[in-house]
Amino acid sequence: MHHFSYSGGRLHCEGVDLAAVAAAVGTPCYVYSSATLVRHARVIADAFRGQSVMVAYSVKANGNLAVLATLAGQGCGADVVSGGELLRARKAGIPAAKIVFSGVGKTAAEMTLALEQGIHQFNVESAAELRLLSEVAAKLGREAPVALRVNPDVAAGGHPNISTGKSGDKFGVPWGEAEALYAEAASLPGIRAVAVDVHIGSQIGDLAPMRAAFEKVVGLALRLREQGHAISRIDVGGGLGIPYKEGDAPAPPSDYAAMISEVVAGHGFEIILEPGRVIAGNAGVMLTTALYEKEAPDRTFLIIDAGMNDLIRPALYGAHHDILPLAEPGPGHPLKTYDVVGPICESTDKFASGRAMPAVKAGERLAFMSAGAYGAVLSSAYNARSLVPEVLVDGDRYEIVRRRPNFEESIGLEKVPAWLTTVA
Ligand code: LLP
Repeated sequence: MHHFSYSGGRLHCEGVDLAAVAAAVGTPCYVYSSATLVRHARVIADAFRGQSVMVAYSVKANGNLAVLATLAGQGCGADVVSGGELLRARKAGIPAAKIVFSGVGKTAAEMTLALEQGIHQFNVESAAELRLLSEVAAKLGREAPVALRVNPDVAAGGHPNISTGKSGDKFGVPWGEAEALYAEAASLPGIRAVAVDVHIGSQIGDLAPMRAAFEKVVGLALRLREQGHAISRIDVGGGLGIPYKEGDAPAPPSDYAAMISEVVAGHGFEIILEPGRVIAGNAGVMLTTALYEKEAPDRTFLIIDAGMNDLIRPALYGAHHDILPLAEPGPGHPLKTYDVVGPICESTDKFASGRAMPAVKAGERLAFMSAGAYGAVLSSAYNARSLVPEVLVDGDRYEIVRRRPNFEESIGLEKVPAWLTTVA
């Protein structure tokens, strides 16, 4: 469920007419719905009501400060994968005690920052990382609460590029090495193993692979307890899929929660969740303006003012985003089949191939739906385009929560060395 719908023939986000936002902010831009973010956070919390659970929103999905502050207000913690995400989460008001730190490449500096902040848990992904964390923690005189992220060798995920739980993926400690590494962890200074962590992929609509992975993980956690490790938490990662188009029917959060409670409950584990897409995905759209129609012998290109630098999911994963006109097409409005492309000088700068949609005229505004997760965060300034701005709607008000940088700001970090400007 989300709060984007036509009202009076115009696409609205909550009480705000998106055409008014496009006119005021310019396109391309992202628009997020507070009510949808809040609703999704509550749906997840409610689904797990009665269980000991911590919702650590996965900041990588959408790390805008205003989005994080909205979710902090709902009691969410954060799953972070860099010092930058950790500082963002803290700045948005998320307490360190609700932060878990994932990722295969944490540096000593990031470990130090996280230890000084006093985060809830490090999700450690290799023996080498565990040893470095031990050194860093011991030097600081601190103890790092640790989960090992294990690789359960279970395939899942909407696309090979977002599958992470198969042996051969770079993620997690190989299944067969996990117990030995917990034994080593117990002997290392500065390390306190408290949890087992797993995350097998993203945009997963079918719960069966998740169940298989979680059953393995709970079995491992119970064996570890028998071996004397004080394992009190299971971190089940994120990965729950969302509907991107009509006919998509991923498992709903209620089924997901029921499955987890069935597999994990009864052993007194705290459950940690790392949802990203399921909270932010359908809470955001990207607005764009149609620039040109271009006829080729075998197709019609619709050229828009957003590029793969603004929304890379179609280019990177072949992802589908519904494209809706901001002005609702009336009955009898003709359909037309387009290849929808951006202005970037790359053939992969294509949002849709052979997409039948209401015929569009130059200057018309469109919305890319379900773009709230892995949209703006993955944007770049490729082709010297400005980073795409972001807007947050709340009821009938909105605010620009990241503005478009001007040219001077865009080049502000660059410098021409004196030797190029000094005449000999
Ligand atoms: N936890 C860990 C350790 C992760 O690696 C991820 C996502 C999440 C949680 C959150 O997963 P979610 O609930 O959002 O599925 N850019 C891709 C998705 C990459 C996912 C990376 N890891 C896309 O646009 O589809």
